[in-house]
Amino acid sequence: MGDAGALVLFGITGDLAHKMLLPALYRLTADGVLDLPIIGVAKTDLDKDALIEQARTACGNVSDPGFDKLASNLRLVAGDYQDPGTFERLRDEVSGLGPLVHYLAVPPSLFAVVASGLASAGLNQDARLVVEKPFGHHLASARELNAELLKYFDEDHLRRVDHFLGKEPVEDLLVFRFSNTMIEPIWNRHFVRSVQITMAEDFDVADRGAFYDANGTVRDVVQNHLLQVLAFLAMDAPPSKDARAQIDEKWRVLRAVKQIDPDDVVRGQYEGYLDTHGVKPGSTTETYVALRAYVDNWRWAGVPFCIRSGKNLPTTDLEIVAELRKPPVTYFKGAEKASPAHNLIRFRLQPDAGVTFDLLAKEPGKDRTRPVPVSVDFTKVLGPLEAAYQRILADAVSGDPRRFVRYDLVEESWRIVAPILDLPDRPLPYAPGTWGPQAAEKIAPGGWHEISTTFE
Ligand code: BG6
Repeated sequence: MGDAGALVLFGITGDLAHKMLLPALYRLTADGVLDLPIIGVAKTDLDKDALIEQARTACGNVSDPGFDKLASNLRLVAGDYQDPGTFERLRDEVSGLGPLVHYLAVPPSLFAVVASGLASAGLNQDARLVVEKPFGHHLASARELNAELLKYFDEDHLRRVDHFLGKEPVEDLLVFRFSNTMIEPIWNRHFVRSVQITMAEDFDVADRGAFYDANGTVRDVVQNHLLQVLAFLAMDAPPSKDARAQIDEKWRVLRAVKQIDPDDVVRGQYEGYLDTHGVKPGSTTETYVALRAYVDNWRWAGVPFCIRSGKNLPTTDLEIVAELRKPPVTYFKGAEKASPAHNLIRFRLQPDAGVTFDLLAKEPGKDRTRPVPVSVDFTKVLGPLEAAYQRILADAVSGDPRRFVRYDLVEESWRIVAPILDLPDRPLPYAPGTWGPQAAEKIAPGGWHEISTTFE
């Protein structure tokens, strides 16, 4: 199956569709990338005008030829996902449109229900199924869900979304590593002392209390997004350009990541979290985590990959700092004491994208070195980035699997975090707007580097 002839969007009136999918579909349509029937499926019945108005609101109240085109492609089938009648009506609606891609922007508890409904109406034939995260709650439930979906769609026709794979700066890590000859020779345990990955968010769990409380930071962003980022940072170069070669290399590196030792983890919970609507009384769910992961292979043995993420931190940023080892000899008297004698390579991924090298230079008039940042702001130099969901949706339609999570990677990710899921101890409290519990400082050797927050 190549390009889909129509996109079936389950949950078109839901939150994800409103915030991410419809705006992305609008951009793709306006840019001339997509032009195909979009059949929404939802419990709420709306007439065509109301559907279009909802979509217009989602797209920022636009009124232009791009939106008119999108509007002309939109249709709705209303009905309950448990009701076979819904899928029969859907079958009538899509008849003659060619191969289908079904996008499930619905709660995970409905993934198998919808897949089975589609199959009973024959709508799994010559069709792909795209499911959102989370994929399982732990290894066992991921296996169960996968087995259930495989009854109706084979792996080649399944796409598991991790929207971080749609983010250009995440993918650029590979481009940066494998297109610049100067980086790759030092990208290993001989030159790199540690790698720090920080995903900070300055907002709280807001109205997602019940969802968040059942998950916590490790499930919400580490098992998926941040292990994918780690894989991009640590993997070897794929032997060829095709998607499968890239996914195989990611799998190989995740396979080498040791299970995380609970002693290498500090969990936090921001003060006030327990008062959030939907959070269980006395909940021990973490809203912050700092951990050390080890990639047990020839390239990385012994190098800590330190990951920290949390809600209610001082800023919203995604940054990676690789700390290089010190030179074996120091030529300036006192230089060791006077300055942090490490080169740093910083990859900024969000909100802006770019790279900074912290080089050491001699301070004029002084017998000591000082780090000087040498930065490139990709967004300024190369232009604006495409939104992650644009790339995810375009790939869902075209069938390119590279920006989705193959099942064997899901298994590895759950294996890696298994020992630190549902830890019984109470997370350490931290004040909103701070960098998490003080104890997290010791997770990174020598402490966490301050993140750069913006380009100079
Ligand atoms: C989601 C998590 O998967 O990713 C959220 O559920 C998190 O808690 C979000 O805020 C971050 O994504 P982005 O694209 O806004 O950085």
